[in-house]
Amino acid sequence: MNNTTTLRHPHSPKSTTTATMLDRSVSSRRAAADTEALSALPSDAASDAVDDSKTKRQHISLLASKYLSRIGHVSPSVILSLFVFLFVASLIFHYYRGLVCVSPYDPRSRGGPGLFLPDALESDFGYLGVPWCRSKQGKTVEWTSKDLLKGLEEFVPIYETRPIKNNMYGMGFDHSFGLWFIARQLKPDLMIESGAFKGHSTWVLRQAMPETKIISLSPRHPAKYLQKGPAYVDGNCTYFAGKDFVDFGSVSWGNVMKQHRISNLSRVLIFFDDHQNELKRVKQALKAGFRHLVFEDNYDTGTGDHYSLRQICDQFYIKGGGHSCFRDSDEARIRARRKNFWEKAVDVEELCGPDETWWGVRGEMRDNFNHSNKPISYMEHFQNSRFIESILDVYWELPPVAGPSLTHQTRYDPARASSPIIEDGRFGLFQRLGLGRLENSVFNGYTQMVYLQISEQES
Ligand SMILES: C[S@@+](CC[C@H](N)C(=O)[O-])C[C@H]1O[C@@H](n2cnc3c(N)ncnc32)[C@H](O)[C@@H]1O
Repeated sequence: MNNTTTLRHPHSPKSTTTATMLDRSVSSRRAAADTEALSALPSDAASDAVDDSKTKRQHISLLASKYLSRIGHVSPSVILSLFVFLFVASLIFHYYRGLVCVSPYDPRSRGGPGLFLPDALESDFGYLGVPWCRSKQGKTVEWTSKDLLKGLEEFVPIYETRPIKNNMYGMGFDHSFGLWFIARQLKPDLMIESGAFKGHSTWVLRQAMPETKIISLSPRHPAKYLQKGPAYVDGNCTYFAGKDFVDFGSVSWGNVMKQHRISNLSRVLIFFDDHQNELKRVKQALKAGFRHLVFEDNYDTGTGDHYSLRQICDQFYIKGGGHSCFRDSDEARIRARRKNFWEKAVDVEELCGPDETWWGVRGEMRDNFNHSNKPISYMEHFQNSRFIESILDVYWELPPVAGPSLTHQTRYDPARASSPIIEDGRFGLFQRLGLGRLENSVFNGYTQMVYLQISEQES
């Protein structure tokens, strides 16, 4: 293993020039993603995806040229006026859009009818936007939607061999795939997990990196669950569990790294699924010098049992961030409507605590499975986001693997997530990748798993 400061797939064909920047136009992202996605597929799946694309709307330039060819008899000055009008309209649109930070995950920026038809189902929340965490330089990950699709093709058969078939209270398919995929991309020298439960996530890490040492921290040893049913205990894992349990924040990481002969902490991947305040965990990881973190439960504002990155970054200056507790507002109406469709959607009554406190969960910073809650002021919440932004190189939310018409999930609101890897309507592709073989329930647990890359700190 080399001693580079960032973890990269050693065989990745991508060079640094492929690193995408968040401020890149989203429409070009989508177009490129579609092309990449097609070329990533086996030929039969690709042809299926092409079939799906038949129902897609035609490109605007094609439509324009067809239109112009039909109106060839119209005077050039009329055509010129039309172009000037369109140009000015697009300038106005981009000006207003530029006043706020629009998330690359924002369904509003997915194109489609969102801006013009705020009542359409998918665009409801797109109209409000979806918050995200800004990083210092606007950098994002180097992997692409093509890599995600290829990964899915490889991961489905692996997932089918999982030892714990019913992992209720643990990860479902989306996050299992996300963790496996991120670990495979980063190829760390050591993987640390906090929150093992019966050991499913340990098994996922092991599938991604068969030879790499794991350290697992969990109050109850996964072996304990073996007495009652399936569990997974790894042979190349050091367990700080059961009577040896130590909380992540209390481990002497310097000593543990020496014992594991790890000299470069940038080559360590930390996975948190322990339902602790994520701000606290980021500060502890930062203090220890770790730079690559994955959080399983990145709860949306108003939901969940701990303060999450998504909640921290929900701020007025981010498009879709900041909320109104006003009962007679567009947001209140949209929230009430979405709640009819999605179990985890929250209306304004649930979102807001006393004195119109909407941040975190009803103005509280939750911690430790909701056993410890601290009301925080808006100023404190705001400063938390500024702190996160000041140390962040990359914030990447795993997209859901497929749209709800394919997975039949009814829990999370898809408009509060980025576009799925397999969009609604691509049934053939969903089937060809083997996803149709999985029970619907494995798609219910998506909570915006996030990968963070912390910037290198000066020592
Ligand atoms: C949601 S479960 C983890 C599920 C597991 N990652 C999986 O995918 O199957 C949360 C786990 O965190 C453990 N936990 C509770 N407090 C913890 C702490 N302070 N540090 C680490 N784990 C903790 C719980 O005992 C439980 O096993």
